[in-house]
Amino acid sequence: MPKKFAVPRGTSDILPDQAGLWEELESKARLVCQSYGYREIRTPIYEDINLFKRSLGAASDVVNKQLLELAGSKEDEGYALRPEGTAAVVRSYIENSMDGKESLSKLFYIGAMFRGERPQKGRLRQFHQIGAEAIGPNSTSAFLDAELIALAMHLLKEFGVKGLRLKINSLGSREDKAHISLWLRETFAHHKDNLCEECQNRFERNVFRVLDCKNESCRKEVAAVVKDLPLSPESQDYFGQVQASLKGIGVAFEVSAHLVRGLDYYTHTVFEITAEGLGSQDAVGAGGRYNGLVQELGGNEKINYGAIGFALGIERILLASGKAASKPKGLDAFVIAMKEEYQSRGFLILQELRREAIRADMSFTVGSMKSQMGRCDKAGARFALILGEEEIKNNTVSLKDMRTGQQETLAVENLVSSLKDKLCN
Ligand code: HAM
Repeated sequence: MPKKFAVPRGTSDILPDQAGLWEELESKARLVCQSYGYREIRTPIYEDINLFKRSLGAASDVVNKQLLELAGSKEDEGYALRPEGTAAVVRSYIENSMDGKESLSKLFYIGAMFRGERPQKGRLRQFHQIGAEAIGPNSTSAFLDAELIALAMHLLKEFGVKGLRLKINSLGSREDKAHISLWLRETFAHHKDNLCEECQNRFERNVFRVLDCKNESCRKEVAAVVKDLPLSPESQDYFGQVQASLKGIGVAFEVSAHLVRGLDYYTHTVFEITAEGLGSQDAVGAGGRYNGLVQELGGNEKINYGAIGFALGIERILLASGKAASKPKGLDAFVIAMKEEYQSRGFLILQELRREAIRADMSFTVGSMKSQMGRCDKAGARFALILGEEEIKNNTVSLKDMRTGQQETLAVENLVSSLKDKLCN
């Protein structure tokens, strides 16, 4: 027997029963994002690998361990599947000179992302994100930080995710980050031996990550020695404005000095949203400000860009909202040809209905009335259109209302208008 294939590890099929849920979620996401003035952007699912290395940071786990590189033909060398959307959006922002066209570009995206992770519940190799990014010259307003966070929370509530917790923190400006990094090294220098092996490595590569280590002994160390991050007065002030803006619009949050992010590009505000019932992978979304990235990726050096964004994980949203499948949308009509020789007439009628945006189908194999009615029922059709000997002879169809069981005969030429009237009622 030929080998059967299975879906690759850490990926999954979205079957028709679930696709309705995805469709619903995506259309809600589009409506909500548009209501905040964000417009959709679609970038390729792979990019130059150096785009990710430069923006996410060579020391980040995503670049270090999880990039899925495209190998093969020479032409493909140097590409990787996108592990997230921000780097590509910034690449496109610069490449398409969006800064010359608008003072603030508000963009959102929905799509598949890829990370070579060890799969577990809520952690996949192919997963999907809904993300939003606001980028523009001099666009560093605390209201924008609050807007992005409010948008993320709004989306999650709209999707029915319960038990949401929003944590925020500030990593300060790039200068602050360099200073904090030194400060953390000094602070942990005497406690280094109490940190886990991973954190001892992190200590050298990216000491910030020690702050969000899940290991119990590291957490104790961190809680004991880091109460606040030493921010400059300007960064402290900015963070204060962000908090005031969030309070002003009634978005509840907790400040957590230990919240840092796994990607290098963040400056100032960072945030993470968790939901209950997800186990260890409980972040349904995260984001933050990344003011320096546009220039790091080749944006105009004379411009002081501001940028902030977030991404929500669709699979985790669906897990948290407890929805597994959606009720299939039934058809409007189902054509039943009683004999094989009536099928061509049935097929003609079927196409006419579809041209008129009536959702219709037929059984492509002829069976008994009972079995065809069974198929009509299974398709969730509102009306059965039956073609028997009499109907073919008189150029009519018998229309059966599947809800009431009532049946009537209609001339074929009146079928579309009559069906449309009935479907409106
Ligand atoms: P991230 O925290 O890496 O941030 O991912 C955002 C969200 O994507 C996570 O909170 C989670 O819900 C989902 N996610 C991430 N990895 C996986 C995975 N392996 N399996 C399932 N879901 C996953 C970013 O991606 C940034 N680009 C967010 C951002 C946008 N920052 C600024 N703008």
